[in-house]
Amino acid sequence: MAVRPDLFRQAMGTFATGVTIVAWCRDDGTPAGMTVNALTSVSLEPTLLLFCIDRQAESHAELRAAARVAVNVLAAEQEALSRRFASKSLGPAERFRGVEWDRSPSGVPLLRGALAHLDGRIVQREEVGDHSIFLVEPEAVHVQGGRPLLFYRGTYGDWAARPAGRLSSG
Ligand SMILES: Cc1cc2nc3c(=O)[nH]c(=O)nc-3n(C[C@H](O)[C@H](O)[C@H](O)COP(=O)(O)O)c2cc1C
Repeated sequence: MAVRPDLFRQAMGTFATGVTIVAWCRDDGTPAGMTVNALTSVSLEPTLLLFCIDRQAESHAELRAAARVAVNVLAAEQEALSRRFASKSLGPAERFRGVEWDRSPSGVPLLRGALAHLDGRIVQREEVGDHSIFLVEPEAVHVQGGRPLLFYRGTYGDWAARPAGRLSSG
């Protein structure tokens, strides 16, 4: 027998994660995005990651139509951005108002100050339960390093600084 959704959510909330903003550009070039922590790496050859999006989310329809996304991994100082991009009172594009970002050569929005950017192509979409899984093949990454923003049992935290390690891109 399946467990109750609230208990499942409580249990999964003990699995501490980082926080990302998944961002894309609309056909007219407007940037849009949402906060996502249901994200994991999947494969090294080829490089693949996945994230899961609630099918009720306004962003879901936009992501169904998007060809590319940027995954922006948030730094500890970016909690306000996480809240902003999870806000239901702002639309996916309105969230970018006043936010510092750059367009990647491929055209997706990169948030300034993020720990890492992964810019890639959506290669597969699967509807599973009440969410959709999006599989992305990153084609360019930039790692900056710093303190990560963490999410645990519904609250934010951060972690001691770690060396950024080898910086790479391309
Ligand atoms: C830390 C955090 C992580 C989240 N992770 C996800 C996620 O992985 N998938 C998802 O569908 N929603 C996630 N959400 C909720 C969405 O960000 C939120 O519902 C979003 O604003 C949906 O907006 P929309 O309906 O305007 O697209 C998360 C929210 C927070 C605060």
